[in-house]
Amino acid sequence: MDKFVVRGGNPLVGTIRVSGAKNSALPCMAAAILTEDEVTLENIPQVQDIETERKLLASMGAEVELGYGRAQHRTTISCKTLSDPVAKYEIVKTMRASSLVLGPLVARCGMARVAMPGGCAIGGRPIDLHLKGLEKMGAVITQEHGYLEARAERLKGAHIVFDKITVTGTEDLLMAAVLAEGESIFENCAREPEVTDLAAMLVGMGAQIEGAGTATIRIHGVQKLHGVRHRINPDRIEAGTFLVAGAITRGDLIVANCNPAHLGAVIGKLQEAGARVDILSADTVRVRADGDLKATDISTQEYPGFPTDMQAQYMALATQCEGVSQVRENIFENRFMHVQELVRMGANIAVDGRSATVRGRTELSAAAVMCSDLRASASLVLAALVANGESILDRVYHMDRGYERIEEKLRGVGAQIRRMGDIFSARETAE
Ligand code: EPZ
Repeated sequence: MDKFVVRGGNPLVGTIRVSGAKNSALPCMAAAILTEDEVTLENIPQVQDIETERKLLASMGAEVELGYGRAQHRTTISCKTLSDPVAKYEIVKTMRASSLVLGPLVARCGMARVAMPGGCAIGGRPIDLHLKGLEKMGAVITQEHGYLEARAERLKGAHIVFDKITVTGTEDLLMAAVLAEGESIFENCAREPEVTDLAAMLVGMGAQIEGAGTATIRIHGVQKLHGVRHRINPDRIEAGTFLVAGAITRGDLIVANCNPAHLGAVIGKLQEAGARVDILSADTVRVRADGDLKATDISTQEYPGFPTDMQAQYMALATQCEGVSQVRENIFENRFMHVQELVRMGANIAVDGRSATVRGRTELSAAAVMCSDLRASASLVLAALVANGESILDRVYHMDRGYERIEEKLRGVGAQIRRMGDIFSARETAE
C-alpha cells in the first residue's frame, strides 16, 4: 500500500498545472450511454475513479479507449451495444458515483440494475432523491439482493423540485430527462460547474436544455442524441487545494490551467486570511503569503458558496492562522475525519457536531498519519508541507482517486514529497 513521505519547510514557488475535473468527467463519461455514436472527452484526469468508470462502462458492453501522455488525456467511448446494463456491486462498492449510470441506462435501454452504493467515510450518501425523481418520470423501481432495478418503456418529462440540493442527483436526472417524452422542469437544482459542464456536453449531443448552472433547469426531451467531442472543465477543487498549498507554505505559486471563475469563494477566503491572490488570466491564478495569516470562519455551502470539498484543506491552513477559526460543515454529516490526524501533528482543534474550532497558529510536528478519504488526504499533505520533520502518510490510494500525480506536481514547485511502496524503502531513500 503506497505511502507519501513528506519533509516540511519548503515554500512552494513556481507554476503548477491543474488537471481536468474528476467530478465533471464522471457524469460526462456516463452520458456516453445516451447515444449509439462515439463520444470523445478531452482533458480527462489520470486518476483512479476514471479507471473505475472505464471498467464500469466496459462491463456493460461499451468500448472505452482511455489514454494519457501522448493520448492527451482523452477517452473515446462507444455505447453502440450495451449488452449488460448492470452496474455490479464489485465496482459500485469502490465508487459510489457509479450511480450516475442509473438515469442514462433507463433513458437509453429502458432498464437498469445498479448495486446500491454503500455509505462512505464522509456520510450515508443516500440516493433517494435520484430514485424519487426517476419514479416521478415514470420509472418502476424495485430493490432486491442489494440491487436497485429501474424500468420504464420511455421516461416522461416531469416537474421535479429537489428536496435537497444534490449534485449527482441533478446530473443523473438531467441525463434521464434529455431522452424523456415531453418537457421537464427541475427546481432547486445543484448549480455546480460540473452540472453546467455536463449540460454543455449534452447540448453538444443534441439535447435541449435551458438554465443549467441555475436553480431551475428546463429540458425538452428528444428522440435520439448523437456523438460529440467535449473538453472537460479544469478541476476547481484541485486548483483550490494548490492555492491553499501556496498560502500555507508561505510561497509564491502560480496555478495554471484552472478556471478562476469557479474559485470565487476559495479565493475570497484566502484573501480574507491575508494571502495575496491575483487572477493573472482566464486560466491562471497567483497566490503569495509572506506575512502572518489571520483566522477566518468558513461554512460549507452548495456552489457558489464555500465548497465542502475544500473544507479539510482549509482547516489545515487554519492551524497556521493567528486566532480562532470556526469551521462549519453543512453538507455531510461526518466530514471531520482529518481532524484527529491534524491533532496528532500538533493542531489545536475541537469538534462539536458539525462545527470545529481551530486555534492557531500552532507549530505542526511531522508524524505518521492515516488518510481516510480523498479530501482528508489532501489536508494531511498540506499540513505535512509545513510540519517540522518528515511525515509518513499511509493509504494514499484515497488521494489517487482524485488527484493526478500530486507528488510529482508538488515536487515540481519545491515540495519534499515522494511516494514509497513501503516504509523501509522510504527510510533508506529519505536518509
Ligand atoms: C458530489 O457528491 C461530489 N461527487 C462530491 O465530491 C461533493 O462533495 C458533493 O457533490 C457535494 O458538493 C461527485 O460529483 C462524483 P450530493 P454527491 O448529492 O452528488 C444528501 C469529492 O471529494 N443527499 O450533492 O454524492 C447527501 O447525503 C466528492 O470529490 C440525499 O440526502 O453529493 C448530502 O448530505 C466527495 N439524498 C447532500 O445531499 C440524495 O439522493 C449533498 O449530496 C442525494 C444526496
